[in-house]
Amino acid sequence: MEAATTTAPRPAIRAPERGLPPGPPLPKPIQTAIWSRQARRVLYGCQDRYGDMFTIRIAYEGTWVILADPEAIKQVFTGDPKVFHAGEGNEILATVLGRNSVLVLDEKPHMSQRKLLLPPFHGERMQGYEQAMTEIAEQEIESWPRGKPYALRPRMQALTLEIILNTVFGVREGERLAELREALREFLDLTTNPAALLPLLLIGPERVRGFGPFRRRIDRVDGLIYREIAERRRAEDLEERDDVLSLLVGARHEDGSPMSDEEMRDELLTLLVAGHETTATSLSWAVERLSRHPEKLDRLRSDVEDGHDAYLTATIQETLRLRPVISLVLRKLTEPVEIGGYELPAGVSVAPCVYLAHRNPEVYPEPQRFLPERFLDNPPGTYTWIPFGGGVRRCLGASFAQFEMAVVLRELVKRHQIRPAKAKSERIFRRAITETPRNNAEVILD
Ligand code: HEM
Repeated sequence: MEAATTTAPRPAIRAPERGLPPGPPLPKPIQTAIWSRQARRVLYGCQDRYGDMFTIRIAYEGTWVILADPEAIKQVFTGDPKVFHAGEGNEILATVLGRNSVLVLDEKPHMSQRKLLLPPFHGERMQGYEQAMTEIAEQEIESWPRGKPYALRPRMQALTLEIILNTVFGVREGERLAELREALREFLDLTTNPAALLPLLLIGPERVRGFGPFRRRIDRVDGLIYREIAERRRAEDLEERDDVLSLLVGARHEDGSPMSDEEMRDELLTLLVAGHETTATSLSWAVERLSRHPEKLDRLRSDVEDGHDAYLTATIQETLRLRPVISLVLRKLTEPVEIGGYELPAGVSVAPCVYLAHRNPEVYPEPQRFLPERFLDNPPGTYTWIPFGGGVRRCLGASFAQFEMAVVLRELVKRHQIRPAKAKSERIFRRAITETPRNNAEVILD
């Protein structure tokens, strides 16, 4: 089914600026304040009022043109990467992730890093991680207490960190594992804890690197990662190793040159930051939703016990539809572009909106309901199901994350009955970047 297109008549509201679609006439600081506390209300409210394309203005970020129409989203995701920049908008992350991070680059340098990173995240290579993922999940889940209210999100974070340490860093045991785990946890705090992010916003990304607590955490993590890289370069069993770091040591740029230590360090931290919190939170949402739909949980369990994966896959797709952890993705225009009848000027950002695309009743009847069944016969659409963004910037770990979610949920439902700890569904709460369950997915496992 196709959604309404932006060529439908729009309400007669004056455009705030020539070339831009309409939007709330409030001053930028007020729009920013409302956005930071109630982003979803802004999105729904503006869509009701202005339709599938509207403009909002956010301090520090600039002008965003929000897109909910699948045709407009397709245009952005298939557009020329020279015109639709994603890395520019992530500039602030360069402070912690470094200049080579695939997240902060655009155009050729971006594609070149992306190509180096892609191989471990697909096909057989990725499926090779199943055993490690399963063992880590079994061990972690066995340690969860039974019969009392328990917030799952921190446990899911511990679990996804362990999986990244094993499959991405290839560090598997002993003191080095404990040391790296601790340093990475502290580092993650910098990127996910709003209190830790505050100095970044207050004193700006350039000066923050010299700021004591920041500097110490980054230096510690850097020291440990550079040590791992040096050891891996010397490893005699490199050929047999399948972890991402070992594959990066063997990877070559188009001109045949190897990756530098700095490039590897930046990409390892990028994979950690992009893949840890997102997967842990999505897993927490899956459990939160399932705990409130016992009949779906029963169906999932009996399918899994019979060795079938179809309902498990559909459950993951529906969780990512109804509770996407990232609500929109951004592309900054380097030249004017016509979208949905508007000639948008260079410098504004267009924002395919995950939330609104996923709540389109023409694509998803009864969009507020948790219905994994909707994906059993209809695979998700490329421009209507976009929890991982799209185009040349689509999440590099999308298959890895869904594979990991499947492994963890399989092990969890095989072992436990799951009940919600409180009667009311958990509200959506924005924590730094991701949209998390308000009470961290508080459930009772039996
Ligand atoms: C459920 C879990 C995840 C979600 C919902 C998610 C979501 C996203 C989204 C929305 C983007 C931006 C896409 C765009 O701008 O079009 C992204 C980018 C990215 N993600 Fe994920 N992600 C997840 C897990 C992972 C994992 C496990 C990894 C790796 C271990 C990963 C690595 C990356 C990288 C490297 C990028 C940047 C890609 C580029 O700029 O070319 N993500 N992710």
